[in-house]
Amino acid sequence: MEIKRKKLVIGNWKMFKDAVQASADFENLSDSVTEKNLSIEVGIAAPSIFLADLARKTRNTVSLFAQNAHWAEEGAFTGEVSPTMLKSIHVLGSLVAHSERRQMFAETNQTAGGRISALLNLGMRAIYCVGETLVEREKGLLKEILISQLEQAFIATKIRNSQSFIGSDPNKPLLSIAYEPVWAIGTGKAASAVEAQEAHTIIRNFLQSYFGEELGNRFQILYGGSVKASNVNEYINCPNIDGALVGGASLVPKDFLELCMKCAN
Ligand code: PGA
Repeated sequence: MEIKRKKLVIGNWKMFKDAVQASADFENLSDSVTEKNLSIEVGIAAPSIFLADLARKTRNTVSLFAQNAHWAEEGAFTGEVSPTMLKSIHVLGSLVAHSERRQMFAETNQTAGGRISALLNLGMRAIYCVGETLVEREKGLLKEILISQLEQAFIATKIRNSQSFIGSDPNKPLLSIAYEPVWAIGTGKAASAVEAQEAHTIIRNFLQSYFGEELGNRFQILYGGSVKASNVNEYINCPNIDGALVGGASLVPKDFLELCMKCAN
């Protein structure tokens, strides 16, 4: 049985903006989201250095996420930020294993699993990013890659109680999946709605088989990769596409708001 999932749109600011810009843009977006009273959840994944300041400004209208979180509670990990630290400043959760982290910072499915479990164990949310490279797609490995990214990370969490991946708020499952084909990120070459849907169906089927049909239907699956206001409509009404993870088009609040409003219609 299909259940209704709340739409979730997250802007990933990556390593852009300075403190003044981040603060002004976040306030601007929060004000607009409050004013429009959107039916979707809008989030921002901000650079960690700005999170404490932005957390004071959320007024619970824009959900605040980190872009990465360590798997340990504390320790000798120079330069890292723990989920406990993030929780202490009221950040809701974090992106996990964004493809830029997989490609440039040695993220693996196993380290991703450690991060997911550290977040979930604190009741925080994890937006787990998966997706194939162009070479993998051309070799016909889409399904295999997606399933191994999901399965290996879930096994590495060592969490055996499926309900722990959902938590207690049906509108905001603790785990969400972001499907982001690597070849579509920051390239302007978005996946077609058909391509995105094919991948989302693979992910949904896997979630149902891993967690059981009822729970597997509750997770949100976001599409990411060159999403903008002008193309978001193609995705947002497809079955199994429950929102978007947006990079470049989230940097200007006015443009991002326009994109969010299209998802709320
Ligand atoms: P993009 O980035 O929207 O700029 O392609 C998406 C992402 O990396 O999350």
